[in-house]
Amino acid sequence: MNIIRVSSYEEMSIEAGKRIAEKVRSNPSMTLGLATGSTPQGVYHYLIKDYENNGTSYQNIKSINLDEYIGLQATDPNSYHYFMQKNLFNHIDIASNHTHIPNGAASNLAEECRRYENLINEVGGIDLQILGIGQNGHIGFNEPGTAFSSRTHVVSLAKNTLEANARFFANVAEVPTHALTMGIATILDSKEIFLLASGTEKAEAVAQLFNEGIREDFPASALKQHPNVTILADDDALKYI
Ligand code: F6R
Repeated sequence: MNIIRVSSYEEMSIEAGKRIAEKVRSNPSMTLGLATGSTPQGVYHYLIKDYENNGTSYQNIKSINLDEYIGLQATDPNSYHYFMQKNLFNHIDIASNHTHIPNGAASNLAEECRRYENLINEVGGIDLQILGIGQNGHIGFNEPGTAFSSRTHVVSLAKNTLEANARFFANVAEVPTHALTMGIATILDSKEIFLLASGTEKAEAVAQLFNEGIREDFPASALKQHPNVTILADDDALKYI
């Protein structure tokens, strides 16, 4: 795992954004794996500014998101579909039929999981996957205990994940309890991975990632099995390193 240490959230967003924009320019039909949550918002802001100022084009880029809540329609402001439109897709020239997010409103969720895995294969796999990290070490919504061999599947969200995500909802009871997520094996199939971490609330998870072994009860540790992972993290997230 390569590590890039920066001083702040802003610097992390710029460093990651620059690298992503360069990759898009040198491979304009690549497939980007995208994440939601607070961590990548600054990166998306950077990519929008770069699109406006430098004209980096996403016309032939495909995107595949990690996860989506079950039971929310794409139009629900708390859905990850809505998040991606609002924070990135509405502001760049990516084609709407090139953006993919698991359908958490599908009537047959097992079928939706299969469809999503096939889709990833059909586009030729993910060239660069962007990840955040949960305080419990989750990647995507793969909670502690998820098999490293897992593919896209339905998950029951851990109590601390519901609590951490309650900030986006009126209260914790409103947070959907289940989600669809790419599995850990799906994530590890990506050719390259950027893991972003910012803030002291991520410091323990980041320390565990560095200091402990590869174990299914700490999902992010699976990344140590991947040959091309870069961690972009700020001083707060790296305070125990
Ligand atoms: C989001 C995702 C999650 C988040 C993680 C960190 O698509 O898959 O693993 O990356 O929960 O969330 P934030 O960035 O909000 O701290």
